[in-house]
Parts: sequence; structure tokens; C-alpha cells
Amino acid sequence: MAMSDELRAIQERVEQGLAKARTLEALEQVRVASLGKKGSLTAIMRSMGRLPKEERPAMGQLANTVRANVEAAIGQRREQLAKAALEARISAEVADVTLPGRRLSHGTEHLISQIREEIEDIFVGLGYTVEDGPFVETTYYNFTALNAPEDHPSRSAQDTFYVVDNASKGKESHALGESDVLLRTQTSGVQVHVMEEKRPPIYMICPGTVFRPDTADANHLPQFTQVEGLVVDEGITFGDLKGTLDHLCREIFGQDRATRYRPHFFPFTEPSCEVDVSCGVCGGVGCRFCKNTGWLEILGCGMVDPNVFGYVGIDSERYSGFAFGIGVERVAALRYDLPDLRMLMTGDMRFLGQF
Ligand code: DAH
Repeated sequence: MAMSDELRAIQERVEQGLAKARTLEALEQVRVASLGKKGSLTAIMRSMGRLPKEERPAMGQLANTVRANVEAAIGQRREQLAKAALEARISAEVADVTLPGRRLSHGTEHLISQIREEIEDIFVGLGYTVEDGPFVETTYYNFTALNAPEDHPSRSAQDTFYVVDNASKGKESHALGESDVLLRTQTSGVQVHVMEEKRPPIYMICPGTVFRPDTADANHLPQFTQVEGLVVDEGITFGDLKGTLDHLCREIFGQDRATRYRPHFFPFTEPSCEVDVSCGVCGGVGCRFCKNTGWLEILGCGMVDPNVFGYVGIDSERYSGFAFGIGVERVAALRYDLPDLRMLMTGDMRFLGQF
């Protein structure tokens, strides 16, 4: 084939190749095949020297024209493909400005904290102080000074998490039940701490966590929250206890709720009671929620035993007082008809977010 025909054929092939090229990669292949180091056009340009002298100018000119055409065609197609690629990307990555924004959800306090604070507010309104106490206690504060005898069942290893202190560790005689350090089983020990530090009049509550080796089930948690209360002053009677706790029950559960004081035993109070509030589900007639009794038990209370005053050096001839302990999780369960206390501990936002 004559060189001029060859040159025209190359240009045609490039034009066909470009028309077929759908991507910048395909276009690059066409370019390399013609203008690359081993490309067809490059090869012809190199062979130009072998032409007879008189043919060279005309053929050289033609070759240059073909190369310019090929370069222009490739450049044009590259622009087209790049623009198409950009447009495809833009339409694929399009941002829908009409979509609603991402909302940050407001946190709420955990239900247990809400009820604890509600109880705090009720008592702060009555002039009480809010005290704090240690989670890790000695048997003296948790039991002995609260008049709980050595053989009281709540002292047993089944009812109490004892902590082995390093000093007694390894001693042959040491068994868990003989440790005198423990995770407090009740907030009542704070009564002793406060009476050691303050002289009457004392009007205080102490909210806090307590621990018992119970397996978690619908009605038990190994860790839960109590609010302890203590009043010590001159002339305090059972009437003061009843008036105060009736006020508390109505503030928490509603003004229409009745209360009932049932005799009970606690080592540190005498006499002692458990307090029931009338069932809010049936109004006191009896239903499944209150096990057909019409009543729901909500707290323990009583008049401070003179023996407890003896441990902290308060004159029981001059002063008297009352104490009480409320389970916060239990108040939550009764107020919201919760079927299972464990719902309070699982951190499921579908449940907790309702409060
Ligand atoms: N500490 C008791 C308990 O954990 C609750 C209690 C009962 C506290 C009577 C008191 C009280 O202060 O007077 O079961």
C-alpha cells in the first residue's frame, strides 16, 4: 500500500476507534495504538527517512496533517468523555436538599434517677437535708449499730456480699462470712454515720445503691436503690411518722390513695411497720396487680430503737425519732405497672425513652 493510503487508513481507523470509545480508558488505548511509541503513525513517521528524497516533502506534509487531525480528534473526544464522566458522577452523587436533617435526640434522666430526685424534692420541701454514705461498709454500721444481732439472717453470706480484706486474706480461720467489710445491704447504716456526726435535731434522707446476692428476676435485683429517712428531735411521735409518710405516698402516687400501716419487725426500729398504699389499678377492690389484696407494699419504717441511740450517744430520754426506707425501683414498678424490674436495668431506649 502506498504511504499516502496508509496514512489515510490510519486516520480512518482512529476516527472509528474514537467513535466506539465510551470511556477515557478506551480512548487512551486508541491514542497509544496510533501516537504511542509503538503506534502506527509513529512507525510511519520513523520510516519517512527511507523515502526517495523528492517524495519526502509532500509525504511529510501529509503525515503532519494526519497527525494533527488525529491529535485534534483525540483531544475533542477526550473532552466529550470527561464531561460525560463528570455529569454521570454529579447525577450519581446528587444531594437531596429536601430530605429532613438528622435529628439529635434529647437525652432524659433514667427513670430511677427521676424518681429518686422526686423523693428528694418532696423532703427538701419539708426542710430535710440530703446525705450521702459509703457503698462499702463495715458490719458495725450495716448491722451491729443498727441493733441487728450476730445471728440475724440478713448477716448470712447468702444475704450479703462480703468483701475479703487483704489483711485477713490467707489466714486459716478466714471465711467469707467472717469478713467485717461488705457491700451495704441497706442505706440504714447512713443513719449511724449521720448521728455520729450531727446532734439533734436531725431531719435527713439518704438516697443510694444497695447490694444483695439475689439472682435478678421479675421482683428482685442484686443491686437496687433505696431512700433512707431519719428524724431525731424532741417530742417526735408515731403521729409525726404517719403524717410524713402519708404526705410522701400522696405526693408520689396521687392524693386519692389510701395508706395502711402493718406491724412488722426491723431490728433498729420499735415499733416497726410496713406501709401499703391502695392499689391504683383497681382502686383497692382487688385485682391481679395487687394479688387481690387491694394494697401494694411500698416501704418499711418505725420509731428509732433506743438501743441505736445508745450506740451513737444520743440521750433516748430526751430525744425520739422515726426512720424509714423506700425502694426506688419498687416505686417505679408500682407507679408505671412494670411487670419486670429488670426492664429498668437493660438500657433499652424503646422502654426508657417513654419516661
Ligand atoms: N433497711 C430496710 C430494708 O432494707 C428498710 C427499712 C425499714 C429502713 C425500716 C428503715 C426502717 O429506716 O425504719 O429492708
